[in-house]
Amino acid sequence: MMTVHHAPVAGTSLAVHTAGAGRPLVLLHGFPLDHRMWEGQSPLADHARLIAPDLRGFGASTATVATSVEQLADDVAALLDALHVTTPAVICGLSMGGYVAQHVAVRHPDRVAALVLVDTKLEADTAEARAGRDDLAAKVGRLGQGILADAMIPRLLAGSTESREQPHRAATEAALRGMILEQPVASIQAALGALGARPDMTEAMRDVLVPTLLVVGAEDAITPPECLERAEAIVPCARLLIVPHAGHMTPLEAPAVFNAALLEFLQHPPGILGGAASPA
Ligand code: MLT
Repeated sequence: MMTVHHAPVAGTSLAVHTAGAGRPLVLLHGFPLDHRMWEGQSPLADHARLIAPDLRGFGASTATVATSVEQLADDVAALLDALHVTTPAVICGLSMGGYVAQHVAVRHPDRVAALVLVDTKLEADTAEARAGRDDLAAKVGRLGQGILADAMIPRLLAGSTESREQPHRAATEAALRGMILEQPVASIQAALGALGARPDMTEAMRDVLVPTLLVVGAEDAITPPECLERAEAIVPCARLLIVPHAGHMTPLEAPAVFNAALLEFLQHPPGILGGAASPA
């Protein structure tokens, strides 16, 4: 059962949903979604204190919009202060949330016990990708959030016939559409700008020594497995899991596999040179 708090963070207030007790596990959502994308992870509250914010501009945290991925990372550190979380946390982020998680690890290393980077990448946008974001921001301004849902949902979910025929597919599509339609246009446009301007994290991530789990859907069309394979070669204590029949939304598309992998990681985190590290 999630409890909602409104935590004061850097001149605004963030909505944050918490459940469970024990080791803090922060769940950072992707674009253009909110904390509800983690509903399938609620069983993890039996093993950890789940902390799932709506990032600045999203969900119920719409008093201000995001200006940069770095700002969103600083918000996470301030949120941990506001929640009186003093022990280092496991920071798990999907796609945009994964970009934010990397910045938390680099900007606030004392807050991070371990990282879980899901359907995300280390590299910055190409010029072409940035131009695509500008175009999408203009279209959302003219036509509303529906155009974004139409453009993104087929790319968010696994595309093979077998994956499309999975029984929970229609419910997953409906949940994503509902979330996308509820995000304010100004927040979507601001986040597209922040995502396009985010720096390349490849060099910085070479020095992040915490145990790191990398997860990607085998059918991820936005950050395909090669992105996470490159990350595995760079992040010193990383272990990679490629999940079949999942696209860019692995925790929603394959919650049982994802949750089991996360639990296994929490119990047996990879150490430097592939050895076991102390539990996070
Ligand atoms: C996300 O899922 O958060 C987005 O696809 C991130 C991005 O557009 O780079």
